[in-house]
Amino acid sequence: MAQPLILGIESSCDETAAAVIRGRTLLSDEIVSSASVQAKFGGVVPEIASRIHSDAVDEVVLRALGRANVKKEELDAVAVTYGAGLLGALLVGLSFAKGLAYGLDIPLIGVNHIRGHLAASYLEDETLAPPFVTLLASGGHTAILYAKTKTDFEVLGGTLDDAAGEAFDKVARVLGLPYPGGPHVERLAREGRAVVPMPKMLKGLGGYDFSYSGLKTHIINYVHTKEQGEAWSKADVAASFQSAALDILAEKTVEGALERHVGTVTAGGGVVANGYLREKLQTVCREAGLKLVLPAKKHCTDNAAMIAAEGLIRYEAGDFAPLSLNACASIPLR
Ligand code: KG4
Ligand code: ZN
Repeated sequence: MAQPLILGIESSCDETAAAVIRGRTLLSDEIVSSASVQAKFGGVVPEIASRIHSDAVDEVVLRALGRANVKKEELDAVAVTYGAGLLGALLVGLSFAKGLAYGLDIPLIGVNHIRGHLAASYLEDETLAPPFVTLLASGGHTAILYAKTKTDFEVLGGTLDDAAGEAFDKVARVLGLPYPGGPHVERLAREGRAVVPMPKMLKGLGGYDFSYSGLKTHIINYVHTKEQGEAWSKADVAASFQSAALDILAEKTVEGALERHVGTVTAGGGVVANGYLREKLQTVCREAGLKLVLPAKKHCTDNAAMIAAEGLIRYEAGDFAPLSLNACASIPLR
């Protein structure tokens, strides 16, 4: 059977993106980001995001089709993020996708953005198959998941408060770094040493849970105290925070894989673009004899390739959405 040709569209936050896949092969992957505009405001302004999506969406889709050398009439389905995210932003991609699916008389597939982050690994390694354990670490979610099948997973544990990306963004703000904070903290951390004592991350009862609030408060207090007089190194604080925040994610993920007796670990979400975390995951997986599949950095942060990849899973399951599908600001992980 011919492999399905799927267009993925993503517009949940500040990236307008479109990608085309044939089976698990990525043919094109286009993106327009409004992050530099949003940086002026220290975060994403929903109305600005929606306007930029409206201006960019048709051009991005045309570019994705052009790069893939595909005519829209050849598409088998359109997959689009319907949640979670900013409602106005989601509606831009969703309305566009509905129009296209209706006009071409092909299925519309509604994709849960977080499921997209999980599916990014399938594009990285075409042989990847469940079961495996995944570390999901984005701006809104941080969890360790046991993927039983392509569509069914169990949450082993996760953050009790802030998501990892959120913690990076908040610490970046305290250190006077721009939005989005993660890449700036990472860059600064490379110039520092992890020598500032950090509190032990609070662990929840479940064994796989953890909390970022103590770490964040500790850094806020540390910086405020030092600002009263003593010399201190921002780069050392960044490096110390980074290792305290990320080591636990890598270690807990490996624990989960060993406990569930799976041989493979995957990861996804914006924080997985962090070089320190990627190296740490490589080290702990190698030591534990586990195979690690890490999506390319550009497929960790928001992108449409991952939406198309999750779209393929839904396509194969015959899980199509009605044209009445609405955007949802929040949807559960499962
Ligand atoms: O997955 P993502 O692009 O969007 C959501 O679905 O949330 O994740 C965005 C988050 C932001 O909090 C951002 O600061 C963080 O991922 N992030 C990073 C890095 N790149 C992005 N955090 C740490 N290091 C990075 N290099
Ligand atoms: Zn995301």
